[in-house]
Amino acid sequence: MSAPVLEPDDEAIARAVRTLRGGGLVAMPTETVYGLACDASHGQAIARLYDAKGRPSFNPLIAHVADEAMARREAGGWDGQRGAAARLSAAFWPGPLTLVMPFATDTGSVSDLARAGLPTIALRQPDHPVAQRLIRAFGGPLVAPSANPSGRMSPTRAEHVAAEMGDLVDLILDGGACRVGLESTIVSLVGMEPALLRPGGLDPSDLEQVLGRPLRQGGDRPDAPSSPGQLLRHYAPRARLRLNAIACDEGEVFLGFGSQGVSGSSDANLSPSGSLIEAAANLFTLLRALDDRATAIAVAPIPTIGLGLAINDRLQRAARRE
Ligand code: TXA
Ligand code: MG
Repeated sequence: MSAPVLEPDDEAIARAVRTLRGGGLVAMPTETVYGLACDASHGQAIARLYDAKGRPSFNPLIAHVADEAMARREAGGWDGQRGAAARLSAAFWPGPLTLVMPFATDTGSVSDLARAGLPTIALRQPDHPVAQRLIRAFGGPLVAPSANPSGRMSPTRAEHVAAEMGDLVDLILDGGACRVGLESTIVSLVGMEPALLRPGGLDPSDLEQVLGRPLRQGGDRPDAPSSPGQLLRHYAPRARLRLNAIACDEGEVFLGFGSQGVSGSSDANLSPSGSLIEAAANLFTLLRALDDRATAIAVAPIPTIGLGLAINDRLQRAARRE
């Protein structure tokens, strides 16, 4: 069934907030492109979001915030880099600028899965009244990739979303045509100097003027992110991983899937019901938990379809010994 397309009045915003709280997916207009939003802290919703987009692997998502205060809770080092984040956000927020910052593990709420396991967080305050009202009414960050199936053009009208994603989302808020129509410019403030990761809705020379220095080009290709590699360096468990295991060997704990079940009390199951969406949502959390418990983990076979491709990709990288 195709999702309803609603005029964004107070009632529609309230309904969208209820949908988000329940782990649902809401297409929202921003000034750049329509985004497919969900609760940034809700693992299962995020797994569903990746699945709906058909992304072949987990690609980190941008967290959309209502204001600088919300951004400061998610990002560490806001005042570092000679105040670059403070200066850029003062000049260009709300607007089509995404800042990649160190993630604040103590106060941040955005889940590991939304960040693709990276120690960083991409943040943006969108300049669209509907997006702003939605984030404010929800009361926390919303992660939102462009609301298109992976590999297709980004949508700039509610009709585009309805046509391509209508069956996969719960609600579409119609905010008219997007003002910018191009995705946000992404700047990383993680390294020694600011770097342009993705050209977008802002002129880089305007950014350079505010920064008072040139932007380093690239370093990271946002559309083929180095995140999977960084993810593994960051996430590589101390424990040895043995994949496609049917049972435990001596000294191993078991990470099961579906009926490839759990026997011991220290074992875990990615999804007893065999749901790849649930397994994706649980992957990082359970790997960490087992890593704390054992020096060797045997992992049940995960089907290599849908989100299972990304799960297997992550598991294979995690199993590789450097
Ligand atoms: O204008 C936009 O940015 C739109 C609207 C909806 O806000 N969103 C958007 O999201 O374009 P998406 O998911 O299509 O693209 C986000 C890009 C991806 O290329 C991703 O790799 C990059 O941002 N990204 C997210 N977090 C990152 C991080 N921590 N480090 C480096 N790149 C990151
Ligand atoms: Mg996109």
